[in-house]
Amino acid sequence: MAGQTDMELIKNGVRLDGRKPDELRDIKITAGVLDNADGSCYLEWGNNKVYAGVFGPMECHPRHKQKADRAIVQARYTMAPFSVNDRKRPGLDRRSTEISYIASQAFEKVVMVEEFPKASIRVDMQVVEAHAGTRCAAITAASVALADAGIPMRDMIPACASGKVNDIVVLDLNKEEDNYGQADLLQLDGHLSPDQFEEAMDLATSGCMDLYKIMRDALDKSYGGKK
Ligand code: CDP
Repeated sequence: MAGQTDMELIKNGVRLDGRKPDELRDIKITAGVLDNADGSCYLEWGNNKVYAGVFGPMECHPRHKQKADRAIVQARYTMAPFSVNDRKRPGLDRRSTEISYIASQAFEKVVMVEEFPKASIRVDMQVVEAHAGTRCAAITAASVALADAGIPMRDMIPACASGKVNDIVVLDLNKEEDNYGQADLLQLDGHLSPDQFEEAMDLATSGCMDLYKIMRDALDKSYGGKK
């Protein structure tokens, strides 16, 4: 949650973690890390650590959820109890239900669901360590896992946040910026002027393009293609 604060989060154009306003945290992506899933991915994004596993397409259960003309994507985002410093109660809460819903909607736009009537594609995203930006990290990891599973897709979804700290628009908010910054574009909380909104959108878009390359490289590497 973004909140108004006087905390100095950026000084002479350098953020607390040493990044420039338009820099992503370090991101490492590995595809095909789990033997038991049809497709999988492990992703480290700064200090965030996320696994994603995909099963399907398979017959959709319960049956009343089936769509006669297409597959549905059943995505589930969860945080491990040890992923945050306050021990999270295990299981789904309102926040993870909302993130799961948004991820399902996003993946149904890119997966060629029309090829698999009455089927379900299950996408599980498990955050094992959280330091802000986990919904982006989880959706990115799940995209790679879907591709790793060989599910036909129009494209993968790179997800990346931007926001505002100390009146400066920044890419990929870290934990302090998320807690004490002024705005978060992804969740549309805080205040951005129309120009700052444009700037935040441009920054997030170019961040997504850089992220997309890392996703492609991970798949190339796992399929033995060029690095
Ligand atoms: O992770 P993301 O930025 O997508 O979502 P958020 O709801 O803005 O949460 C920001 C951060 O707050 C998370 O990444 C966690 O580090 C932390 N958090 C937490 O400590 N306990 C929770 N139950 C939820 C979030």
